[in-house]
Amino acid sequence: RRPVLLDRRAVAVTVPVAVAALLTMAGPATAAGSVGAPGVGDPYFPLAGNGGYHVSHYGLTLRYDPGTGHLDGKAVITARATQGLSRFDLDLTGLKVTGLTVDHLEAAHRRDGQELVVTPARPLRKGQHFRVTVTYSGKPGPVTDPDGSLDGWIPTDDGAFVAGEPQGAMTWFPASNHPLDKSAYDFTVTVPEGRTAVANGVLLGQRTKDGRTTFRWRQTEPMAAYLATATVGKFQVKQYTTRDGTKVYDAVDPREATAAAPVLKKLPSVLEWGSRLFGPYPYRAAGSIVDHAPDVGYALETQTRPVYDRAPDVSTLVHESAHQWFGDSVSLTSWKDIWLNEGFATYAEWLYAEQHGGESAQQTFDALYATPADDPLWEFPPGDPGSGANIFATPVYARGAMTLQVLRNAVGDRVFSRVLRAWADEHRYGHGTTAQFERLAERESGKDLTALFRTWLYTPGKPATP
Ligand code: ARG
Ligand code: ZN
Repeated sequence: RRPVLLDRRAVAVTVPVAVAALLTMAGPATAAGSVGAPGVGDPYFPLAGNGGYHVSHYGLTLRYDPGTGHLDGKAVITARATQGLSRFDLDLTGLKVTGLTVDHLEAAHRRDGQELVVTPARPLRKGQHFRVTVTYSGKPGPVTDPDGSLDGWIPTDDGAFVAGEPQGAMTWFPASNHPLDKSAYDFTVTVPEGRTAVANGVLLGQRTKDGRTTFRWRQTEPMAAYLATATVGKFQVKQYTTRDGTKVYDAVDPREATAAAPVLKKLPSVLEWGSRLFGPYPYRAAGSIVDHAPDVGYALETQTRPVYDRAPDVSTLVHESAHQWFGDSVSLTSWKDIWLNEGFATYAEWLYAEQHGGESAQQTFDALYATPADDPLWEFPPGDPGSGANIFATPVYARGAMTLQVLRNAVGDRVFSRVLRAWADEHRYGHGTTAQFERLAERESGKDLTALFRTWLYTPGKPATP
């Protein structure tokens, strides 16, 4: 989320969507088997992810020197082939691959844009479990997204702000870089003594030797690659366990500490609030990474532990916390469905305000509905952003949330709250599509909601009636 809701237009839309969707889901069959597709077929990011296998686990061992910006990495990727594979891809951009094995045998590999093309010594059979080990190094930097914003490994004055939505995971590890492929992660990150490396999940341990500290993190529940982080900086660290046993780890840049403290203090109560509304908090770990990264301009719901470019306000904390249910646990199937993440997280902000002495969600809706028809809010319908350049634009967030308010008014508070819980529950640790959400809302309410969703999600222009 960007700090000011309606200020997201500040990011210039300059870079056109470059890649045409000319993909087939599986490559041509060859005598030796078949070739894994270079992407999962996402209409906005055709090269994101890869065909022919699923990753169950990433073991990432990283060593980062903030002084020189140099990264040494080793990725051990455990996967299962979903088709015969004579060849498959990983996503990786920048960096130099220095070694690659598949099941301990040297494998041929080459780079082709963001694809790391791997030809194992022996073709893989459908259903086969296999392990890819990639060693790599170089000076990582961010990718520029279609909307002109940066994501991935973003160096800061004392480390790096690491947030990969939608594309940036491939700037720091070889990945199956699409939310369709969710995996467990282990991170071992070594940084100079005095710096802290914060990743997802539970801190297993830390050890300082010869002027360097190694942090070991474990993310057990499935995670999309874009939600991985290994943010590095000079941080003040606070650890505690909540009443219900969630392990909290906060890392805060001292320059943001005064502003952040009163907000981070609310995290346990915000997670309890979310658990009452959306069902049990999906993860064993939680926390916040508050960086000082003036060039970034957004926060990201990195799984279990959102990363903020500055001290967040309460609304932003609520937004990133709500994403733990909507976006992280229930993942997108396709980036065009992004309103399922951003509309829901924004609506959670409205609900939180309503229940904590602020404006009602209806008042927030009314204020937005009062904006003139030529306002950027009405530029495109949230269910059909049209391109990757629009996935973080105002209609996705604000009109996405407005859609939920219209739904709430149509079905009533009780049914609406059942819909939110059922969505989080039935797709927990998995995926959802907009069509599935529409069916679920119709099932729970017993109403035909076709016109409502058609108007609010898919029809261009400001809807004639609220
Ligand atoms: N999902 C984030 C949020 O709304 C925003 C990420 C923006 N990313 C970007 N590359 N601009 O919480
Ligand atoms: Zn968001």
